[in-house]
Amino acid sequence: MLGKALVREWGEDEVVPLNSRDADIRDVEVVRRVVDQARADWIILSAAYTDVDGCETNQELAFSVNRDGALNVARAARRAGSKLLFLSSDYVFDGRKSSPYETGDARNPQSVYGRSKAEAELGLLDALPECCIARTSWLFGAGGKCFPDTILKLAATRSTLDVVNDQRGSPTYTVDLARAIVQLCCRNAVGIVHMTNRGDCTWFEFARLLVQEAGLKMEVRPVSSKQFARPAPRPAYSVLSPKSLDQFGIEMPAWQDASRRYLQERAGSGIL
Ligand SMILES: NC(=O)c1ccc[n+]([C@@H]2O[C@H](COP(=O)([O-])OP(=O)(O)OC[C@H]3O[C@@H](n4cnc5c(N)ncnc54)[C@H](OP(=O)(O)O)[C@@H]3O)[C@@H](O)[C@H]2O)c1
Repeated sequence: MLGKALVREWGEDEVVPLNSRDADIRDVEVVRRVVDQARADWIILSAAYTDVDGCETNQELAFSVNRDGALNVARAARRAGSKLLFLSSDYVFDGRKSSPYETGDARNPQSVYGRSKAEAELGLLDALPECCIARTSWLFGAGGKCFPDTILKLAATRSTLDVVNDQRGSPTYTVDLARAIVQLCCRNAVGIVHMTNRGDCTWFEFARLLVQEAGLKMEVRPVSSKQFARPAPRPAYSVLSPKSLDQFGIEMPAWQDASRRYLQERAGSGIL
């Protein structure tokens, strides 16, 4: 999902888009070869095993892709003299805070996916201290499975929908994130940066806005996450502070504005 938005956003610069068939990041030799061939100024590592529930049952796969694969890319980047921006997640935190997470807050992941990302971060900072780690959350956009698509599909067939109202975070549009990542690279960013659309909401509030803005009739009802047991625990609060992004003079739009633009993009592409 994000990879496609990044390729579109990069504009006039030369981009070498690679998918899992071009390079499995678990394969040291392949990674080294494609990184050497590309001779890129920047490598953006967006690839990951992102099925959060799947990671609970496929732990070995989670760590081999998300941690070891990331380290393979970091080592190849160091060899080739390329800079690296690694996509990380709000899941590195435990979700017990009630004010936005700062970049220096302690990692305390509660899920296998979160642990694989947290361990990748630590490994990367050791192997390539000048890398950039961009933590984001609640991604949505074209080209992948995302929450707005699920809600709008359900709205076509249902009159009511229960959505959890006790998990708070920041929805982030891949188009806005890709744009901000390009800016960050242009500023030669180093270190940990939190990158989400501005503001925060619960999944219920997010669903309600989507249904309203799409002009649909479905009633959205707030419920507790206890009603939706899932294999991986979700953080109750995972809002990421924008201070680190502010320091680069980059501001991402509010999540409500981003949601409206995504609905327009969807309608324009004939999905609705
Ligand atoms: N989605 C979110 O809400 C969210 C939140 C916070 C952070 N992030 C992070 O942001 C990044 C982008 O997320 P996304 O939602 O755009 O992910 P996505 O749509 O699931 O895409 C992940 C990509 O990684 C590729 N991949 C998986 N295993 C690979 C391997 N071993 N070698 C090479 N490529 C591999 C997948 O290829 P195949 O499809 O061919 O397997 C897919 O193209 C990820 O690093 C993710 O952890 C996402």
